[in-house]
Amino acid sequence: MPRSIDQSGAAHRLSPPVDSHLQPSANGPEPRRPLHRDLRDSADLLGAVLQGESLATALPRLAGAWDAGRRGAAQSLAFETLRGLGRARVLLALLHPKRIKPAPLESLLLVSIALLTMPGQSRPYADHTLVNEAVQACALHPGTRAARGLVNALLRRLQAQRESLVAAAMGDEVGRWNHPAWWIGRIRAAFPDAWESVLDIGATHPAMSVRVNARWGTRDAYLTLLRARGLDAHAPDTPELTQALVLARAVPVDQLPGFDAGAVSVQDCAAQLAAPLLDVRDGMRVLDACAAPGGKTAHLLEIARCDLIALDQDPGRAARIDQTLARLRLRGAQVRVADASAPSVWWDGRPFDRILLDAPCSASGIVRRHPDIRWLRQERDIAALSARQTALLDTMWQLLAPGGRLLYATCSVFPEEGSAQAQAFLDRHNDALALSAPGQLLPSRTPDRDGFHYALFAKRANA
Ligand SMILES: C[S@@+](CC[C@H](N)C(=O)[O-])C[C@H]1O[C@@H](n2cnc3c(N)ncnc32)[C@H](O)[C@@H]1O
Repeated sequence: MPRSIDQSGAAHRLSPPVDSHLQPSANGPEPRRPLHRDLRDSADLLGAVLQGESLATALPRLAGAWDAGRRGAAQSLAFETLRGLGRARVLLALLHPKRIKPAPLESLLLVSIALLTMPGQSRPYADHTLVNEAVQACALHPGTRAARGLVNALLRRLQAQRESLVAAAMGDEVGRWNHPAWWIGRIRAAFPDAWESVLDIGATHPAMSVRVNARWGTRDAYLTLLRARGLDAHAPDTPELTQALVLARAVPVDQLPGFDAGAVSVQDCAAQLAAPLLDVRDGMRVLDACAAPGGKTAHLLEIARCDLIALDQDPGRAARIDQTLARLRLRGAQVRVADASAPSVWWDGRPFDRILLDAPCSASGIVRRHPDIRWLRQERDIAALSARQTALLDTMWQLLAPGGRLLYATCSVFPEEGSAQAQAFLDRHNDALALSAPGQLLPSRTPDRDGFHYALFAKRANA
């Protein structure tokens, strides 16, 4: 299995960096930290991704001993680079047609080029600062020590000819859209009228959305608390999202009032649609088949006092479900480490009234939060993931009671994992009835949400 999919097939979910380092001004203030250190750190993170490792594993491996400021800065710069990596790669090839070696030098140049060519208003450092600090960063790694002259020459040429070089890079599809060519082709074919906005949004920063714990209190009560802390937010204009708030600016979770006491969870608005769609009621027997880290499990338990089994096959991730539920003071779930596709091992034979299958997928709908995903995935992964989803769907269907409902969810924008998968399921199961559900939700800025697909099936009682 390529390293781009972890063994669980889980989306690589990192908490978004709250940016302590990037200051959005064209030729802005001097950095508060030694920038050359942060450039080297972020180049190391980028290097790991270019070797096929997700940021979710590279960050703890490389940055485990770093303090929060250093870690946050490196993560921010790596995120920014990954958002503009297509452009940076094309520019590096224009500046130096022969492949740059060794890898630590290539990654330092890619970080520097991506930052130097961010769209004007969002460029975080004065050009001369960035170039000087990139040259200083050469001293920090044996693979770059001898390359000060080269780094200086390439970056100064880029600075001098930025407009024409960037225009040339924009003429290249990967340089323009900052996604791999196969990904661009699939999105263009699937959404002929919306493909450009899907790709463009993928390079933007998501808003921070929260879900107010209904067992704690109302959305209005929480909004009052937020405002008392000087944090503004608005309720999204989606009637189903009764507990959602979108913050005016992202903050670390420890600045959210009542976070440790379970008042609120961070969750994208598209993900908050799952639990209301499933229409759970008190006393129902519910299965959350792919549950970790427990965001949707918790939402289900906030809505109803149901008898819920939360499964995940990954022990490390399953432990996070327990943590999520403990923080939110939610009871009623049995958390199990098990493979949902092997029910003989964990199922007692009593059918479920409701099943949520939030299946392992490409995570192509959440690339705003995880800008490494698009560079890690390979085209062949999509068929492999789709086959796993098909198998999981068919197994889950056997566990559902007649009259029960199954919600199939993926945070993907590829039809093979969404609309085509749902249609094929209906074609295979004549006891399945499609109920009203959002179908394919494309990522969007207004309202702010990730890309998701939802299909809801009812099992005919008399088939
Ligand atoms: C998209 S994530 C679930 C996110 C979760 N529902 C939430 O809202 O927090 C998919 C999860 O499925 C788990 N998974 C993948 N294959 C599985 C299987 N066969 N059985 C159980 N869990 C599985 C992965 O470990 C991963 O945690």
